Amino acid sequence: MLSGKQIVLIISGGIAAYKSLDLIRRLKERGARVIPVMTGGAQEFITPLAVGALSAEKVFTGLFDREAEHDVGHIRLARDHDLILIAPATANLMAKMAHGIADDLATAILLATDKPVLAAPAMNPKMWQNPATQHNLTVLKDRGIRFCGPASGEMAEKGEAGVGRMSEPLDIVAAVQTMIRGRDLQAGRLPLAGRHVLITSGPTHEPIDPVRYIANRSSGKQGHALAEAAREAGARVTLVCGPVNLPDPADVTVIRVETAAEMLKAVETSLPADIAIMAAAVADWRMASEGTQKIKKDGSGKPPALELTENPDILATIGHHQSLRPKLLIGFAAETRDLLTNALGKLERKNADWIVANDVSPATGIMGGDANTIHLVSRSGVEDWPQMSKTDVARQIVARAADTLNGAAKT
Ligand code: CTP
Repeated sequence: MLSGKQIVLIISGGIAAYKSLDLIRRLKERGARVIPVMTGGAQEFITPLAVGALSAEKVFTGLFDREAEHDVGHIRLARDHDLILIAPATANLMAKMAHGIADDLATAILLATDKPVLAAPAMNPKMWQNPATQHNLTVLKDRGIRFCGPASGEMAEKGEAGVGRMSEPLDIVAAVQTMIRGRDLQAGRLPLAGRHVLITSGPTHEPIDPVRYIANRSSGKQGHALAEAAREAGARVTLVCGPVNLPDPADVTVIRVETAAEMLKAVETSLPADIAIMAAAVADWRMASEGTQKIKKDGSGKPPALELTENPDILATIGHHQSLRPKLLIGFAAETRDLLTNALGKLERKNADWIVANDVSPATGIMGGDANTIHLVSRSGVEDWPQMSKTDVARQIVARAADTLNGAAKT
């Protein structure tokens, strides 16, 4: 996550500039503010209008922009932000940087900055391999400039392939996150640094026989977003997740399980934790005895009687744990009616500190969707939150949890 971070994005003139549009979108999705600077060359490939529309910011294009320069615009752009990202970085731009040339706004910013700089080069493979470019690369690396890519593959020029393609926007975003997290860690700025956060996510599958199982519609999106948000906040994160169709979040210890019993075991062995967030939609029941053979129709036309037994309640188990109860224990309540009454009941019964309550009636589209409308239920009351993306819900829950743990807020 990049909430609250300000990134100056320098777009220089290469065909890969079109990918910068997607890059802006991806950075903004993660909460960053993106201030675009375009070189003259970049404007030959994409328009400032498109860049401005996607970033929702003024696009800086010229060194001698009277409006921007009356408050020393290029110096401000060079200094007031968390990171300068160059994507694409052309061979020409790298050469100018290596030699301290400042003949346009982008290069003036790069010469004046004291902020971290990350470059995503893009050029023809021959230009990349050229000793001049390789020498410039070494010079820039020695000065602390970081690089993402280039990747190898087909080039825009017909029939050419090799190393020189700009990295994909998501790879660049990951490099930005790693760099910012590293600096925040160094500066002791991450609110959950040194903490362990344990999260459950996804559904559980309870086998009926070797080929069938009981399941539910949980996608795991909210739990996984929480794991990412906790990681971004500097925590060591353990994610215990049921069967989901989602990639493992980066830098998180993921324990994949199938059943509620396995989930409980994984949770217990992962304790102690400072914060536990039980976002999994654990199946309430499993088969009293799981058959080893596939259940067959017996010809009578009557369905088989499936005898069920209740699963252990993971949240309640750790909520009542004598020695290993986390300092902050957060549960979810997925309801289709009497949302708040049910949530309060769960808060008490399971001895949680907060319950994140949401209405999962099919009409809300929350199950499997990307948005969530939650109510934060605690012993001091109920807070209604506006509809947000699951990512934003995750970021805000994690920020609130960090404040509570660090003593800045009580809920
Ligand atoms: N939970 C759990 N283990 C279970 C059931 C639920 O840890 N066996 C946790 C969930 O992860 C969630 C909270 O308890 O944080 C509430 O889950 P929910 O399915 O809404 O409630 P249930 O306890 O299953 O109650 P009910 O089915 O009556 O709504």
